[in-house]
Amino acid sequence: MFSLFFWCKEHFTLLLFSVLLLIDCLIAFQITGAQGGVNSSTGERPLRYEIRDFANSGPAFDLFILALIDLQDVDQSDQLSYFQVSGIHGFPRTSWDGVSGRGSYPGFCTHAATPFPTWHRPYVALFEQLVWQHAQDIANIYPLDQRNEYLNAALTLRVPYWDWAVYPALPDVVAEPQISVNTPNGQQTVDNPLYAYFFQSDAAGNGFPLSDPMANFSETVRWWSPNTRSSNQSAATAALLANAPTIQSLTYQMFTSVTNYTAFSCTWPGGQWLTANNIESIHNSIHNSIGGYGHMQFPEVAGFDPVFWLHHANVDRLFAMWQALYPDTYIEPTVNAYGSYYEAVGFVDSGTTALAPFHSDSGSTLFTSNDVRSMKRFGYSYPELPDWGMNPDELAANVRTAVNSLYNPSSNSTVSSSARRTRRRSSSIAENFGHVSLDLARHLRVNNLNRQWSITVLVDRFPLDTSFCIDFFMGDAPDEVSSWPTAPNLIGTYAQFNPANVTMLHPNGFPQGQVRGEISMTHTLAAGVSRGAIRDLSPQSVTPLLRHALNWKARTPAGEEVPLTALSGLSISVSTRPVVPRNTKDSFPVYGAVQWLGSVTKGKPCGRPQPHVHGMF
Ligand SMILES: *[C@@H]1O[C@H](CO)[C@@H](O)[C@H](O)[C@H]1NC(C)=O
Ligand SMILES: *[C@@H]1O[C@H](CO)[C@@H](O)[C@H](O)[C@H]1NC(C)=O
Ligand SMILES: *[C@@H]1O[C@H](CO)[C@@H](O)[C@H](O)[C@H]1NC(C)=O
Ligand SMILES: *[C@@H]1O[C@H](CO)[C@@H](O)[C@H](O)[C@H]1NC(C)=O
Ligand SMILES: *[C@@H]1O[C@H](CO)[C@@H](O)[C@H](O)[C@H]1NC(C)=O
Ligand SMILES: *[C@@H]1O[C@H](CO)[C@@H](O)[C@H](O)[C@H]1NC(C)=O
Repeated sequence: MFSLFFWCKEHFTLLLFSVLLLIDCLIAFQITGAQGGVNSSTGERPLRYEIRDFANSGPAFDLFILALIDLQDVDQSDQLSYFQVSGIHGFPRTSWDGVSGRGSYPGFCTHAATPFPTWHRPYVALFEQLVWQHAQDIANIYPLDQRNEYLNAALTLRVPYWDWAVYPALPDVVAEPQISVNTPNGQQTVDNPLYAYFFQSDAAGNGFPLSDPMANFSETVRWWSPNTRSSNQSAATAALLANAPTIQSLTYQMFTSVTNYTAFSCTWPGGQWLTANNIESIHNSIHNSIGGYGHMQFPEVAGFDPVFWLHHANVDRLFAMWQALYPDTYIEPTVNAYGSYYEAVGFVDSGTTALAPFHSDSGSTLFTSNDVRSMKRFGYSYPELPDWGMNPDELAANVRTAVNSLYNPSSNSTVSSSARRTRRRSSSIAENFGHVSLDLARHLRVNNLNRQWSITVLVDRFPLDTSFCIDFFMGDAPDEVSSWPTAPNLIGTYAQFNPANVTMLHPNGFPQGQVRGEISMTHTLAAGVSRGAIRDLSPQSVTPLLRHALNWKARTPAGEEVPLTALSGLSISVSTRPVVPRNTKDSFPVYGAVQWLGSVTKGKPCGRPQPHVHGMF
């Protein structure tokens, strides 16, 4: 303490900051986001950048890495430590900033509930605010000839996002254990704080329940293997790549055809939107692909993996872009069927209910969804959303153009015809319809064809004592369960984002209710058309094929097969709809009525002619 004080005398602003931190123990921590660099007269705000651009930004990236190292080093007894902030999401299930809960869910995060997008907005803003504060201190100690450059970069520093729908691979700067940055002491190679977070204590010291299988890891892991006793980062990338065409199509359709916030926001079935995919289900898939058997797969510990923040900055970006397209729809009162640590099962979420534990002032006021409707209040924006220079119509047109060019690009390429030549028509279903890379899907323009095909999944939120996935295949699943997530004939994976030990959290019975998600399979079928295996995408051509070729299997993240009959409430249905492709760069396709094809799933495990909602909904 003495040396800290002595050191601070030379840095009055730092001293002030330390005093503020002390006062924080007495009064609430006000979440403002990072406010530096905001132009108060025009409303222009610094941008959160895509990680690939951001990694090449020089000083901003250096500062981000160094600030994250500092944040991860803050003693975990401090509520503004990486440990405690990441722990808001799940374990250790204790109070934060004076707010506590009583629910049985591991953390404050709301999932399968309509505040899913709104709750995570102040959460990422809190992280950004802390990173920003650390970056100011670091910029101040660069040598004089670099200091101004670093101070300017620190002022406008915002956290990066990772657009996994366009770049479906773990970014290099996330996957490498070490990283080289320009520090105040020159270029240095340091342990990469985006690669893993190292816990400062063991499970008991962290306050993690010891009966959770994830509790005892000393660092965050991705696709951890019990054989090698280590992470496998390339398995994460392989899983992301295998799902990429589905993820890109679902992301595109979320923008082009989901127009009601309730349908957009979460996996809760919500009655009438059974064909619509939603931001949470897409986000769940990414958690699963990154985590495998690892922290990102399980909500009680996901917040500790540093890539969580890049993932959620992107979820927030997709939310903000979607809001620019549909500004008139927002959260409406809905029942939270599953609860959180803060909210009891049956709580009615609305625009005015609290997003705990996030304070909007230094007193006792908690943010509400209505408070966070605009990201303006948190001092950031995204490249697609220069809202200070455009009226709402221009902004929406700008977003449509960006959505088209990112997720449904035009292409003059001839790859589709060469793909046709290189892959001869085969007698194998898996060959004819498999090996569909994101590149091929884009060249086939799968999001701009005259028809779409989808699989809809409805299933109980907690049918098992752990998390699970369902893999969909054209033809047979490979024999080895470990080959399923990256099988060449995988269409896509439905992922449930459930805790590793549900029994421990809900010893008196699991909360009842279903969740939903979609898998897009237009890419698989379009590849089959391009290879001459089927004539076209019409129901006449596709239905008989799917009837014998479409299969699905379920597994746990640890790689054990789950009998489909063990997944209570499971309902799998197939639908198609005609599409009038888009014809200008800022317009969207127009979709016709959904047609359910009951004969495709008839007689298959948990196949239903249409999504079957049971119970309270
Ligand atoms: C805000 O933007 C205006 C217009 O571009 C510019 O003239 C002004 O200098 C900016 N103010 C700050 C504080 O950057
Ligand atoms: C985890 O570590 C604690 C000590 O922190 C120990 O008591 C416990 O048995 C360990 N649990 C498992 C599952 O290894
Ligand atoms: C890591 O995962 C990749 C992709 O799934 C796989 O090919 C490789 O064998 C795995 N490595 C180890 C050491 O298990
Ligand atoms: C969205 O859905 C809700 C719930 O059914 C409904 O009350 C509301 O009117 C819908 N909003 C729009 C903009 O369609
Ligand atoms: C397609 O070709 C046109 C005309 O040559 C060109 O202007 C455009 O940039 C090309 N688009 C792509 C995506 O390559
Ligand atoms: C889950 O927790 C319970 C105690 O609540 C324990 O008996 C069980 O072994 C745990 N399961 C796993 C897979 O760790």
